[in-house]
Amino acid sequence: MSLAGLSKHQTSRRGVVYGIIGMTVALVATVIVVLTRAWGSSSLPLGVTLLVVAVVVGAIIGLWRARTVEMTGMPQLIALFHSFVGAAAVLVGWNGAIDTTGIPADLLGVHHGEVFIGVFIGGVTLTGSVVAFLKLSARISSKPLMLPGKNALNIGALVVFVGLTVWYIAAPQLWLLIVVTALALALGWHLVASIGGGDMPVVISMLNSYSGWAAAAAGFLLNNDLLIVTGALVGSSGAYLSYIMCKAMNRSFLSVIAGGFGIEAPSKTDAGGGEHREIDAAGAAAMLEGASSVIITPGYGMAVAQAQYPVAELARRLREQGVDVRFGIHPVAGRLPGHMNVLLAEARVPYDIVLEMDEINDDFASTSVVLVIGANDTVNPAAAEDPGSPIAGMPVLRVWEAENVIVFKRSMAAGYAGVDNPLFYRDNAQMLFGDAKERVEDILKVLTSQSEASEGQAR
Ligand code: TAP
Repeated sequence: MSLAGLSKHQTSRRGVVYGIIGMTVALVATVIVVLTRAWGSSSLPLGVTLLVVAVVVGAIIGLWRARTVEMTGMPQLIALFHSFVGAAAVLVGWNGAIDTTGIPADLLGVHHGEVFIGVFIGGVTLTGSVVAFLKLSARISSKPLMLPGKNALNIGALVVFVGLTVWYIAAPQLWLLIVVTALALALGWHLVASIGGGDMPVVISMLNSYSGWAAAAAGFLLNNDLLIVTGALVGSSGAYLSYIMCKAMNRSFLSVIAGGFGIEAPSKTDAGGGEHREIDAAGAAAMLEGASSVIITPGYGMAVAQAQYPVAELARRLREQGVDVRFGIHPVAGRLPGHMNVLLAEARVPYDIVLEMDEINDDFASTSVVLVIGANDTVNPAAAEDPGSPIAGMPVLRVWEAENVIVFKRSMAAGYAGVDNPLFYRDNAQMLFGDAKERVEDILKVLTSQSEASEGQAR
């Protein structure tokens, strides 16, 4: 019910409430199971104390991080959460290896296999997520680590893992478990360290998938069907999300999951070439006042500038004046799936005017003004028109078909993909340079002073 609710803007709040209820039921059920099993035993007080301490510590950390996180800091928070799932899977695995009481002798081999797989997936998820967190929060360089023969290293680690698993099932020994833990931690670190900062969103979604498989592996060890089902759900939906993201970015899914993601985006170059035209806030305000329809296409720059609040205010003001204002959202605008939707929802933009690319792409041709707020690759005509472009074939918002386009950005620099954007040199396009938040606020000021002046005249 929570997932179904979260799949639509209108029902997402309800989805979150269902999620909270679900987690509460899960926690209460866990506590009841522990209490009934341990009832009357001498270990009860210790068990209850540990449980209470774990819940309180977890709740305090969770509440504190969720309350203080900036919307732009979401990806690294999610990376950190995934690392906890990985750590939990490693600990559950080790626990399962040390404590084999109650497991029938004929199932011990299966149990050892589960331990090994759980520890391995958990270890990869743990360090992979920690590196992702460090890169996303700029604590370490986001440049890809290019070890010689990196693909051979990754494949070699997998082969060694398979060999060790067979060995461990045949003759479980502690040192094998130590080796596989170290191997998994090193592989997770290497996998994500070899990926350039710009590709992190795909990595986050892959780690999300890994964390699901880690949870499912823990579910097998704990003999917990619910954990297996939810883990598999997260694992497969994360993998599918990665697939959708790769498709939307015109990248090969197979090369991504085969560890080929280290391919760095070309270095950012100056868009150079051709003449561009500039417009100021007053000119933009005048153009908007005369417009009958406006489409706003936000991108990563809106998130950087935190411009969603003045943008929402501008949309509200124009709608009050009878202008038809809508938002066009590209599936990979920003750096995270749904990045723009989250920001616009945060600024309370009504859901019914926020449309997906496919819903709005045919309407640009009949639109008076398009405001491109900190978007670049997602509105690049080269993707549709230049077969030699690195982003050729990537579906884009066809903003250039509109009567007028105003591009909000700080310079002529390229976007994430590092490719030139011919949109900036089109006859119907004008650049409004500067921080997107400040420029939109400037437009709002012009609109306010104009409406005050006209009110004064009316009086
Ligand atoms: P980008 O192509 O990255 O362009 C963002 C633009 O925002 C830049 O050209 C930058 O220009 C401008 N900008 C930055 N800070 C600004 C500020 N404070 N005020 C105004 N402008 C600012 O963004 P996009 O169009 O959203 O495309 C997203 C890109 O990320 C795509 O290439 C996509 O493939 C990639 N990507 C997305 C995802 C997901 S899932 N969303 C995942 C991986 C990769 P200036 O520096 O000149 O200001």
